[in-house]
Amino acid sequence: MGRRPIIAGNWKLNPDSVEQARELADAVAEGDVGEVDVVLIPPAVFIAQVRQAVAGAGVAVGAQNMHPAANGAFTGEVSGSMLRSLGCAYVVCGHSERRGVFGETSEFVGEKVAAALQVGLTPILCCGETRSQRDGGSATAVVAQQLRDGLAALDAEAAARCVLAYEPVWAIGTGLTATPQQAEETHAFIRHWLVERFDRETAETIRIQYGGSVKPHNAAELLAQPNIDGALVGGASLKAESFLAIVGCASRS
Ligand code: PGA
Repeated sequence: MGRRPIIAGNWKLNPDSVEQARELADAVAEGDVGEVDVVLIPPAVFIAQVRQAVAGAGVAVGAQNMHPAANGAFTGEVSGSMLRSLGCAYVVCGHSERRGVFGETSEFVGEKVAAALQVGLTPILCCGETRSQRDGGSATAVVAQQLRDGLAALDAEAAARCVLAYEPVWAIGTGLTATPQQAEETHAFIRHWLVERFDRETAETIRIQYGGSVKPHNAAELLAQPNIDGALVGGASLKAESFLAIVGCASRS
């Protein structure tokens, strides 16, 4: 369908120091990214160094979170324009750890998505159900609600500038990947939802990453699915070798 694969490495609260961040970014920058959009998503304090390390290597940098306001009394937060000024191109919005551990609502996530687009950042909007929601049969309803709220403020043109990430919560950091069939089923559901919410062309343009224990050994099969356009990688992005192996799978998909 001509969607360019996008592989992003979400470093979460890692590594311990700016020196280690620089080392990891240097090692990724030495790899071959081929025809793949590759994004490193370090903790905000390392963004400037990581950006410097990957400059000229065809690797972009993203942030793990942002606040929707441009300025104000929001101690501890960073804004989209601050991230832009560091050379960030992407920002993750509504990761399940932000929703689950930090209590972010879908409406708040939607504000972040809209604010990110306004300053020229590409939001990576995350969605995904918990184990009990899946077992209770409400997985697609949960995902649809997260997308409805996350994309609430957008018209088709704005939505086309977003990346989505489907990350079943039960697969994150657990080693329990969704099977390629399970993942594809939800991705196809999301694509269909986008057709209904916007239009076919917009739906066919938007890239949908899969996330949740993506590793070199399972990436090829996941990325071969017609509606899986990339991966949001946590644990395996902390080693350049495994991250680049996943990038290699995307370049062959
Ligand atoms: P994981 O994390 O690859 O370690 O499961 C994925 C994510 O949370 O984005």
